[in-house]
Amino acid sequence: MAPLKVLIVGGGVAGPALAHWLSRIGANITLIERFPRMRATGQQVDLRGQGVPMMHRMGIEAAVRAKTVKEKGTQLIDTAGRCRAFFAAAEGGTGKQSFTSEYEIMRGDLVGILNALTEGRANVRHLFDTTIDSFTQDEESDPDGKVHVSFRDGSKEDYDLVVGADGTGSKTRRVMLGPDAPDPRHRMGGYIGYYSIPSKPHDSDRGTFCHLPGPFHRAIGTRKDCPELTRVYMLMNAKGAPAAIIDAAYKSGNLTELKKAWADLYQCDYWECDRFVDALRHAPEADDFYCTPYEEVRLPEGSWSKGRVVLVGDAAHSGTADGYGCTWGLVGPYLLAGEIAARLHGKEALSPTEAVMRGAKKYEEIFRPIATASQGGNKWFDMLSTPSSRLGIWSLHAVARLAARLRLDQMAGLGEEQAKWELPTYPELEEAQS
Ligand SMILES: Cc1cc2nc3c(=O)[nH]c(=O)nc-3n(C[C@H](O)[C@H](O)[C@H](O)COP(=O)(O)OP(=O)(O)OC[C@H]3O[C@@H](n4cnc5c(N)ncnc54)[C@H](O)[C@@H]3O)c2cc1C
Ligand SMILES: *[C@@H]1O[C@H](CO)[C@@H](O)[C@H](O)[C@H]1NC(C)=O
Ligand SMILES: *[C@@H]1O[C@H](CO)[C@@H](O)[C@H](O)[C@H]1NC(C)=O
Repeated sequence: MAPLKVLIVGGGVAGPALAHWLSRIGANITLIERFPRMRATGQQVDLRGQGVPMMHRMGIEAAVRAKTVKEKGTQLIDTAGRCRAFFAAAEGGTGKQSFTSEYEIMRGDLVGILNALTEGRANVRHLFDTTIDSFTQDEESDPDGKVHVSFRDGSKEDYDLVVGADGTGSKTRRVMLGPDAPDPRHRMGGYIGYYSIPSKPHDSDRGTFCHLPGPFHRAIGTRKDCPELTRVYMLMNAKGAPAAIIDAAYKSGNLTELKKAWADLYQCDYWECDRFVDALRHAPEADDFYCTPYEEVRLPEGSWSKGRVVLVGDAAHSGTADGYGCTWGLVGPYLLAGEIAARLHGKEALSPTEAVMRGAKKYEEIFRPIATASQGGNKWFDMLSTPSSRLGIWSLHAVARLAARLRLDQMAGLGEEQAKWELPTYPELEEAQS
């Protein structure tokens, strides 16, 4: 039998993870990334909950551990820089959670580790500066059905399976759903922006967040992962004029204008805002500025796949800034690969096209309730970005102090159903030889 021929669109987290698992069952994989090289930007990401055993099964725990950011915990400070509440980092990997998880790693390091899993494998091709233009597929009843893909460079190729791992703004999703489908991205009201600045000796090794009193909801914070740089995080939960200013700059795609819009909105005398804003305007380190609206991808039930085209990671279920993007971005591909492998190589021994279509439906059936359970409002984001009056901020600090004493943060994030869910095992993946 010819190997399963697979196209994976997106070389971030979910794409390379899927390439790893499918390469173990001998699939012929092409992994394409739109960027001219590995897109290794981004700030700290967390692996939590089921992400920890997942990492273990992928054999990357040591590599991740060697790159983890040693953050001592998270603190809220007042506008004079004094600590008002402190949440120590979670320890022990599984179980207890905190704002700082045991496995905090820079996104670029994780993307590098994941890509390296398949870089040397004969059955995986990594292509950069490559993207799809469009695709069509044969009838689902066609036992030899394929997906016919046109690439941006004009070339064409047929595949048994096409997977969109191309993030929240997924092009694969847009083509799969068709021109009449509504955009499944839901704006939750708010933006997150982050960038690097030259560090100073007094910059804290704790994640440090300060709420700024003023006419709209803003918070600013710092985190540290290396001696030379401090990373600045800005969280804004605003409607009306401030949101319109950021929206316009975001849509323009012009980095200078985007930085200026944020800098103008954060210009104030509180804490070290002067220094942070000045760096945003002038420091070359801040050219890594990245911003994203706070939005969730909410697809109707049953629409994570259509025939032989399937979505994984943020493309299927993004919940920006909920702390689980990377965890679910590793778990979903494992489930998809496992469900396909079970149908292709297990007792059923279905045809490639049947195995792909049924495996994809089963993957959604199992994983949708887990990956989307915390959608519809993110308490973490709301709490960190909501108050803007002095009294509101004072109350937040009081509540946070109490929560820190009771260790309520350790329950943050996962709902009960999600927390007790266990990763399934797939003998077809475990036994397979790479
Ligand atoms: C630049 C960047 C920075 C980020 N920073 C953070 C962060 O600091 N903290 C955090 O928690 N999360 C961050 N995220 C999100 C986080 O990586 C995801 O939530 C999570 O890891 C799920 O990963 P994913 O692989 O589904 O999506 P992503 O990590 O978004 O990866 C998608 C990949 O697909 C590529 N791509 C997009 N469109 C196409 C196309 N048409 N053709 C080919 N390739 C395409 C993108 O360039 C990207 O490499 C960031 C994402 C990106 C892209
Ligand atoms: C894998 O697919 C590529 C094209 O995508 C093709 O050139 C190559 O021959 C295939 N390899 C195998 C072993 O089928
Ligand atoms: C981006 O905006 C700046 C300032 O408004 C302008 O000088 C520059 O030409 C713009 N760049 C592009 C590529 O449009």
